Amino acid sequence: MPPQSSLPSSSSLDHFLALHRISPRFAFLLENPEERLPVNFDCWHEICDSIPDLIESGANTRQLIANLPEIEIPSSFSYEQLRLCHLLLCTLVSAYLWAEKSTKPPSTLPRCLSIPFHSVSNSLGMKPVVSHHSTCLANWRRISGDLDRSKVIADDLDLIAFRFLKTSGNVWFFTLNAQLEFDFAPAIVAAASICHRGSSSTPSEIGDSLDRIITSINSCAALFVRFRERLTPAEFYHGLRPFLWGYANIEEGVIFEGVDSVPSRLPGASAAQSCTIQTMDAFLGVKHNGAEEEFLRGQRDFMPAPHREFIEWIEKTAQSSPLRTLIHSHPQFPDALRALDNFRSQHIRAVSLFISTQSSNSSESGTGGTPLIKFLKTVRADSNDVMPH
Ligand code: HEM
Repeated sequence: MPPQSSLPSSSSLDHFLALHRISPRFAFLLENPEERLPVNFDCWHEICDSIPDLIESGANTRQLIANLPEIEIPSSFSYEQLRLCHLLLCTLVSAYLWAEKSTKPPSTLPRCLSIPFHSVSNSLGMKPVVSHHSTCLANWRRISGDLDRSKVIADDLDLIAFRFLKTSGNVWFFTLNAQLEFDFAPAIVAAASICHRGSSSTPSEIGDSLDRIITSINSCAALFVRFRERLTPAEFYHGLRPFLWGYANIEEGVIFEGVDSVPSRLPGASAAQSCTIQTMDAFLGVKHNGAEEEFLRGQRDFMPAPHREFIEWIEKTAQSSPLRTLIHSHPQFPDALRALDNFRSQHIRAVSLFISTQSSNSSESGTGGTPLIKFLKTVRADSNDVMPH
């Protein structure tokens, strides 16, 4: 991604965002997710739609999925269609591995899954494994549309796929997360607009953007307590979370039949893959170190390539002189860091409730594979390094 100074001067912010597949209103949340693929993909939809029933009836879900035809992904598919393919394949692969709880997960993915999953992931610059970008960002639809259609309100949302439980908690976990991503959009656009203007940004423009960042992060932080409205910790931990594991905790890994003979050990979905907080760290100059830095950088590999490049551009531009000085010396800058700290504190509370209280294992790891609370507290404390004294 070129630095700000080499952008064509006519490039408007919206056009720039569009190049990175970022919506000025929805940011990283897909604005119009595709809900249905052409008819020859009906067999994928039929299984995805019936997984909770299949699980409840004890059906041989794995066999049903293994019998699917091998379907080629057309090169004519739109970006939204490709994102839907990735979502449906995440769903089918998670069902194939984890729906039959009484048996060990298989160590090979059949060609009907491995070939299209590999192909669509390559086209999107994503990894062939369940991810936040599919289960949350490309997985929402309005129920009635009666509520304010200019907003994304979790209470009026349903999922397109990745539904494994019959209870509402499965839907709520991802739809509340989708609302959070939407409510984060003003902060993302505010950061992008300052980086787009570069060092010609005035103190008043920087102050306005920091204000929008603070308001947006604080309203998102307030959403964390709402997870418990429709999702119990036990339902999350024991019911839903197993489907979010990728291949990392399958001892032998998973071989993609017809693609690779070396097993994949890719970790599964975590909102640590969300671009929101990574964009804020990049804009505010919050740096992480050691294992934390390695993990968070690694999470970028799970983002669609244009989003990853956007974060790299924010990081490079916001940290270049003199823009960095303009941002860091602004009177609102400490409040923006405090808002980020508050977000991370609310998040740690949610992680304690939904994971720590449920786990009998004191060295419990996240689906991304981190040693949880210690990791999250270290990451939160890293803001202190840039707090003006
Ligand atoms: C009940 C809800 C949630 C639970 C149980 C949860 C759990 C976790 C866990 C276990 C980690 C450690 C990384 C790993 O190994 O996976 C993590 C990291 C992270 N999660 Fe969540 N998470 C939740 C909701 C969210 C939401 C809604 C966001 C919003 C973007 C989010 C953003 C992050 C971020 C950014 C990290 C990386 C650490 C950081 O930068 O502070 N999480 N989460």
